[in-house]
Amino acid sequence: MLEKILACLPYYCRGTVVKGFGRGSKELGIPTANFPEVVVENLPRDLPTGIYYGWAQVDKEEVHKMVMSVGWNPYYHNEKKSMETHVIHHFPSDFYGQQLSVVMLGYIRGEENFSSLDALIEAINNDISIAKLELEKESMLRYKSDRYFTKVTDSIQEIDKPWSNGTDHPASQGSNL
Ligand SMILES: Cc1cc2nc3c(=O)[nH]c(=O)nc-3n(C[C@H](O)[C@H](O)[C@H](O)COP(=O)(O)O)c2cc1C
Repeated sequence: MLEKILACLPYYCRGTVVKGFGRGSKELGIPTANFPEVVVENLPRDLPTGIYYGWAQVDKEEVHKMVMSVGWNPYYHNEKKSMETHVIHHFPSDFYGQQLSVVMLGYIRGEENFSSLDALIEAINNDISIAKLELEKESMLRYKSDRYFTKVTDSIQEIDKPWSNGTDHPASQGSNL
């Protein structure tokens, strides 16, 4: 499975933030931004579901660390595959309708079903701690200033489409994926 993941990363995508079920903020206290279906459908078929980390940017603002859940949220028995990003930053309000750009760089674990909401929250907080540490590595930090985040997007066709800058995967430069 590791090989499959490595072949897909780094993975770049952007899209307009749409409404999810709204449980992230309310029930978990961990807000998540949902990508539209077209972005989820564009994911490489080989990319396993699970929890990923990387960098995220709302519109053309500052780039922050992020964790993302890709899959069906077994705890909630979702029927549709989703990509839910928790941007590790305090935002004063939600950003529905704004553009979210991400680069996925590493894989943390598979999606799990938990016996309680508290166990799910604890697992997500642990994912956040892992992401914060991993993204401090030189091989990951360099993606924070990636051209994907700095260049002006003037073509509407680029929105919601995957993108690649052709660089090597960070794991080949010392990450412990
Ligand atoms: C880092 C991270 C890890 C997650 N891990 C799991 C998981 O292991 N199992 C699960 O059922 N859902 C997991 N989720 C998804 C949450 O259940 C989901 O974000 C929550 O239901 C809010 O979704 P909503 O905004 O669509 O309501 C995770 C979400 C994040 C951001």
